[in-house]
Amino acid sequence: MNVVILAAGQGKRMRSKLPKVLHLLAGKPLLAHVLDSARQLGAGKICVVYGHGGEAVPAALAAPDIAWVRQEPQLGTGHAVLQALPHLDAAAPTLVLYGDVPLTRISTLRSLLAQAQEHDQTLALLSVELDDPTGYGRIVRAADGAIVRIVEEKDASDNERSINEVNTGILVAPTPRLIEWLPRLGKGNAQGEYYLTDIVGLAVGAGMKVRTSQPDDVWETSGVNSRAQLAALERIYQAGVATRLLENGVQLADPARIDVRGELLCGMDVTIDIDCVFEGRVELADRVVIGAHCVLKNCRVGSGARIAPFCHIEDAVVGPDNIVGPYARLRPGTELGREVHVGNFVEVKNSSIADHSKANHLAYLGDATIGSRVNIGAGTITCNYDGANKFRTVIEDDVFIGSDTQLVAPVTVGRGATLGAGTTLTKDAPPDQLTVSRARQVSVPGWKRPTKNPNPNPIPNANPKKED
Ligand code: UD1
Ligand code: MG
Repeated sequence: MNVVILAAGQGKRMRSKLPKVLHLLAGKPLLAHVLDSARQLGAGKICVVYGHGGEAVPAALAAPDIAWVRQEPQLGTGHAVLQALPHLDAAAPTLVLYGDVPLTRISTLRSLLAQAQEHDQTLALLSVELDDPTGYGRIVRAADGAIVRIVEEKDASDNERSINEVNTGILVAPTPRLIEWLPRLGKGNAQGEYYLTDIVGLAVGAGMKVRTSQPDDVWETSGVNSRAQLAALERIYQAGVATRLLENGVQLADPARIDVRGELLCGMDVTIDIDCVFEGRVELADRVVIGAHCVLKNCRVGSGARIAPFCHIEDAVVGPDNIVGPYARLRPGTELGREVHVGNFVEVKNSSIADHSKANHLAYLGDATIGSRVNIGAGTITCNYDGANKFRTVIEDDVFIGSDTQLVAPVTVGRGATLGAGTTLTKDAPPDQLTVSRARQVSVPGWKRPTKNPNPNPIPNANPKKED
C-alpha cells in the first residue's frame, strides 16, 4: 500500500517557530508517530507532503523510505494529495494520514484497509460520531444509509450541520481513481480550496462503493492544532503507557504521574514512585525500586537495585542490588558493579565502579576505573581535566580514600592503599601503604587570640553627609 501523510499546514495556533508536526509527543515529533504507524502497516511507499516550516521538516526526519514532496502554496487537502501522485504505486491502494494526528491505533487502520479491500474499488473513510461536530466535514447519507458526499462545515446547510458523523480525514482510496479524480477537483467552495473530500461525491457518481469504519476511541483521530490539544493527547498517551505497565505487573504509585518518552522495559515486581520521567530505552530488572522524581534516560538498572528520590541517570548501567541516591547523578559511561552504593550529591561520569564499592557523599568521579570494595570518602574529586585534555584515575581493589581528597589524573592508587583525608595526590600511591599529602599539624603553645582595642582610632567618615 501507499501512505500519503499530509503535513503542509501551518499550525498557526501553536504560536511557535517550530513547524507543527515537529512538536513532541512522548519525546517524539508528531510526524514521527505517524511515520512509525505507516511503517508498522508495511507501507510500500511513504510520501510526506510538507510546506509550512520548509525544509526543517524533511531535515528533521529524513529516512531512505520516505519521499518528500513540497506543497507550495497550500491550496487544500485535494491539492496536497495531488502533489504526491507521481510517487505512488498505481497498483496498490493509497492510505491518507495527517501528520498532526499522532495516536491512531494500528488495529483501527488495519480495519479501515480491510474495508477498502473487501470489494475492489472501494473508498473507505474513517469516521467518528461527535456530540459537537463543529468544524468538521460531515458525512452526508441518503435515507437508506448510503454515503452521498462529505460537506465541509463552511459549505453546509443548517440541516447538514446537525449531522454528528464527521470525517476524520483518514481514508483509503484506489490509486488509479485518485489519479483520475484529483486533477479534476474544483475550488468553487466557501474556502476556495481543492477539497480531498470531494472525491466522495465523485466516487458515488461513478457507482463506486463508499464505506466507513470507526475507531474504538475518538482520540485516535484527534489532531493537534494548539498546545492545549497537544498536552491533552500527551496525557492520553501516557495514561495508555501507565495502564500497560500496571497490567504487566509494574507497581506505579500514581498512574497519572509517570512519563515515558521512549521504551520502558520492566521485569517482575518493579515499583515506581511518583513523577518519574523515562527517556529513550530504559530497562529495569526484577524488583527494582525507583524513588520519586527521578529522570532515567537510556540506562539499565540491575535486579534489586534501589534508586532513591531525585536521581538523574543517563547512558549508564546500574548494577544488581545497588543503592543510588537520593540526589545522585550518573552521567554517560557510568558502569556500576554489584552492590555498589552511590549516595547523595555524587556525580559519576565515564567511570566504572566494581562490586561492593561505595561513594556515599559529595564526590566527583570522572574518567575513573574503580575496583572492588573501595571506599570513597566524602568530598573526593578526580581532577580529570587540565583545561585541554582528560586523564584517567585508576583506583585498585580494597582502597580507602579519605575525605576531601583530590586525585590529579593520570594517577593510580595501588591495591589496598589508604589515602589520608585532605590528600592532593599527584603521584601514584603504592599498594597497602598510607599516603598522605598535607602540612603536618602544629600546635603553638602560649599563642594568644587577638582581643578588641578598647580605644580604637576614630575611622574617618567614608560617606560624609551632603551639607545643605
Ligand atoms: C479536513 C477535512 C474535513 C475533516 C477534517 C478533520 C478537507 C477538505 N476537509 O478539514 O472533512 O473533518 O480535516 O480534521 O479535507 N494540509 C496540507 N495541505 C493543504 C491543506 C491541508 O498538507 O493545502 C494538511 C494539514 O497540515 C492537516 C491536514 O491536511 O494535517 C488537514 O488540514 P486542515 O486544514 O486541518 O483540514 P480541515 O479544514 O480541518
Ligand atoms: Mg482547513
